[in-house]
Amino acid sequence: MSTSLIYRNATVYELLIRALYGRYYPDRYRAVEGLVPVGASVVDLCCGPATLYTRYLRQKSVDYTGLDRNKRFVTTLIKAGGQGKVWNLTSDAPLPEADYVVMQASLYHFLPQATPVLDRMLSAARKQVIIAEPVRNMSSSNNRVLAAIGQRFTNAGDGAQAHRFTETTLDEFFRPYVARVVRQELIAGGREKLYVLNANS
Ligand SMILES: C[S@@+](CC[C@H](N)C(=O)[O-])C[C@H]1O[C@@H](n2cnc3c(N)ncnc32)[C@H](O)[C@@H]1O
Repeated sequence: MSTSLIYRNATVYELLIRALYGRYYPDRYRAVEGLVPVGASVVDLCCGPATLYTRYLRQKSVDYTGLDRNKRFVTTLIKAGGQGKVWNLTSDAPLPEADYVVMQASLYHFLPQATPVLDRMLSAARKQVIIAEPVRNMSSSNNRVLAAIGQRFTNAGDGAQAHRFTETTLDEFFRPYVARVVRQELIAGGREKLYVLNANS
């Protein structure tokens, strides 16, 4: 199955994300970057064109590995000097270990069964799991045209994504992990919610 236009090209992807987040675009990356200490190791799941690395983490000498099923994005990352692997995260293969295992704006791709991927993240993290997930987005818009664009243009290769989190459903998703949650807050003008969980230890 072919991917949506938004996932075919790193520049197109970034332009659309910038348009969607407007003045909050840098905030979504800074919120995650601020949680990662200088010199730490990071595995970024569904890294996309790896803007988190190229614009934010690289300057902190972070040992970064991005995983994505999209070969074009992984190639872009490797050309930019990062480590990247083509990886389909629906596979139950254990993830590479790192101090911080991160996922931004991608948990919805695993609905309605997103728990296994979170459990694999917790097993791979030596320190923390950081997830920032959209809770207000085009596909849940009351405007049917925007909603259709949001769903159709985020097909990563396995079909259009009709399911998204709201803040309520995301909070419900994390409820079984409450003992590990050390931080939860809205970021990027309320467009995403950040969760930080302590790793298995
Ligand atoms: C909305 S983008 C997020 C990119 C980046 N994390 C960001 O916040 O800008 C979602 C990414 O998830 C990737 N993706 C979707 N399903 C995947 C899967 N099953 N395995 C690996 N990557 C996947 C897509 O290729 C895409 O790059």
